[in-house]
Amino acid sequence: MTSLSGITPSGRLTLGNHLGALRRFTDPDGFYFVANLHAMTTKHDPRRLVALTREMATLMLAAGLPPGTVFIQSDVPAHAQLAYLLECTSYVGELSRMIQYKEKGNGRPMTRASLFTYPCLMAADILLYGTDRVPVGGDQDQHVELARDVAVRFNREYGETFVVPQLQKAALAMRIKDLQNPTAKMSKSDEDNAVGTIRLLDPPDVIRRQVMRAVTDSGGEVRHDEAAKPGITNLLEILAACTDGDPVELAKAYPTYGALKADTADAVLAVIEPLQKEYARLASDPVAVDDLLAEGRDRAIEASRPRLQAAVHAMGLAGSGG
Ligand code: AMP
Ligand code: TRP
Repeated sequence: MTSLSGITPSGRLTLGNHLGALRRFTDPDGFYFVANLHAMTTKHDPRRLVALTREMATLMLAAGLPPGTVFIQSDVPAHAQLAYLLECTSYVGELSRMIQYKEKGNGRPMTRASLFTYPCLMAADILLYGTDRVPVGGDQDQHVELARDVAVRFNREYGETFVVPQLQKAALAMRIKDLQNPTAKMSKSDEDNAVGTIRLLDPPDVIRRQVMRAVTDSGGEVRHDEAAKPGITNLLEILAACTDGDPVELAKAYPTYGALKADTADAVLAVIEPLQKEYARLASDPVAVDDLLAEGRDRAIEASRPRLQAAVHAMGLAGSGG
């Protein structure tokens, strides 16, 4: 069983990223990477991308991911190489149906071609390592489905080459919502100072204030009810995810919104503060971070080589006997 996941450095990491993704990256044989190639599918600023990539990689290390599992996608050229082979295995029809493409690009002539082919790169990320589990938040299901379809098709047309991956759904925190707009996902692409978004590296007093100011619902009863009480339900989900509790059960313990908010703020900070301490320690030792990322890179290069080679040969690309 090998687990693999990536996070795109399109913004600074949020509590949603931590609860929905990062903290589930625990497989000592896994592969967890900063998906910087994926951050170029829309207009981007190279200097900001470098900074966000480094911050994200350091945060992944600070989150206690197993040693040797963390790397930066562009350090492993096999991802881009296999992506091209998979573009030759995918259909325009299936790529046009991707929600992300439809939302961000469809029809506009200046849409980057890479936004359209992005699911092939993601499939390459997954298939290179014989991954069978992909822990991601709910918004990525369609991409993992495509990776499955591509693997099945490749194996059928060119011979058994890839493991067909499973989607690994989170029991909790599938979608942490924005604190000011609790029907929308808390997103790292929101502007940096959006008050509804908790960033993992925001100062603790700012985070506490954000939770205390979260939008609630009319009526004063604390109840888990997504449709009628999206704000309170989101706070309960966050509290439950941070304390390994059950959101429906937790609701019964709170007579008022204020009490729920105070405990949620404490629970969020209990998760975030140790992470911030470790981040500060690592960030002050860039050589140690470089070494850890080089270790992850080398392991990923080794692990991905056989499948890339197998795919190259299977598709008829064997060149000078290599
Ligand atoms: P993204 O920030 O959309 O690039 O997502 C990176 C990873 O974090 C993916 O596995 C997402 O599904 C997960 N994720 C992002 N935002 C949230 C959220 N608000 N709640 C739960 N998981 C999330
Ligand atoms: N597309 C994912 C996101 O935007 C990040 C990602 C890239 C990924 N490659 C992956 C996730 C492979 C899981 C597996 O969040």
